[in-house]
Amino acid sequence: MRDILYRYAIFCAIILCMSFGSVAFAEDTGVFDVNAFGTLERPVSQFDHDAHMEYPEIDEDCSVCHHVYEDGKLVEGESSEDQACSDCHTIKAQGSQPGLRTAYHDQCKGCHIDMKKGPVACGECHVR
Ligand code: HEC
Ligand code: HEC
Ligand code: HEC
Ligand code: HEC
Repeated sequence: MRDILYRYAIFCAIILCMSFGSVAFAEDTGVFDVNAFGTLERPVSQFDHDAHMEYPEIDEDCSVCHHVYEDGKLVEGESSEDQACSDCHTIKAQGSQPGLRTAYHDQCKGCHIDMKKGPVACGECHVR
C-alpha cells in the first residue's frame, strides 16, 4: 500500500513539474494572436508595434495594417484594430483574401520590400 502511495506521489510531482514547465517555457507571442496556427513551426516573429507607429511610412495610421474591405474594396481610413488578423484570414485562402500566414508575410515583408527597409529574411523575423 505504501509503495502505491509513494508511486502516486512521484507521478503527481512529475505532472506538476510538466505543467509548470510548459507555463514557464510558453512562447511570448507579443501582440500576435497565433492560436489559429496550432503548433508553431517557427519562433514567433519579432515586431515592435510602438516603434512601427513612429515610422514615417505609417505615421500612426492604424488602417495601414488593420484594414477594412467592403465588396473587395479597401475602405480608406477605416480600421479594424479591435480584430485579430485571424478573425478574417483563415488558414486557407478564400478567393483573393490570402490565408493567415500569407496575410502576415505579404503585409510585413511587402512593406519592407517597398520601403527597402526592415527585414525580409526568415531568420531576421523568426529569431531563434
Ligand atoms: C517581416 C517578418 C517576417 C519574415 C521575413 C518572415 N516571416 Fe514568417 N511570419 C511572420 C509573422 C508576423 C507571422 C505571424 C506570427 C508568427 O507566427 O510569428 C509569421 C508566421 C509564419 C509561420 C506560421 C506560424 C508558425 O510558426 O508555424 C511560418 C511557418 C513562417 N512564418 C515561416 C516563415 C519562413 C519559412 C520565412 C522565410 C521564407 C518567413 N516566415 C519570413 C513574419 C515574418
Ligand atoms: C505595421 C502594422 C500595424 C499598424 C500600423 C498598427 N498595428 Fe496594431 N497590430 C498589428 C499586428 C500585426 C497585430 C497582431 C494582430 C494579430 O496577430 O491578430 C496588432 C495588434 C494590435 C492590437 C491587439 C493586440 C494588443 O496589443 O492588445 C491592438 C489593440 C492594436 N494592434 C492597435 C493598434 C492601433 C490603435 C493602431 C494605430 C495607432 C495600430 N494598432 C496600428 C499591426 C499593426
Ligand atoms: C475585418 C476583416 C479583416 C481583418 C481584421 C484583416 N483583414 Fe486582411 N483582408 C481582408 C479582406 C476581405 C481582404 C481581401 C480583399 C480582396 O478581396 O482583395 C484582405 C486582404 C489582405 C491582404 C492582401 C491585400 C493587401 O492588402 O495587401 C493582406 C496582405 C492582408 N489582408 C493582411 C492582413 C493582416 C496582416 C491583418 C491583421 C493585422 C489583416 N489582414 C486583418 C479582411 C481583413
Ligand atoms: C507600412 C510599412 C511596414 C509594415 C506594414 C511593417 N513594417 Fe516592419 N518596418 C518598417 C520599416 C520602415 C522598418 C525599418 C525602420 C528603420 O530601420 O528605420 C521596419 C523594421 C522592422 C523590423 C526591424 C526592427 C525595427 O523595428 O526597426 C522588424 C523586426 C519588423 N519591421 C517586423 C515587422 C513585422 C513582423 C511586420 C508585420 C506584422 C511589419 N514589420 C510590418 C515598415 C513596416
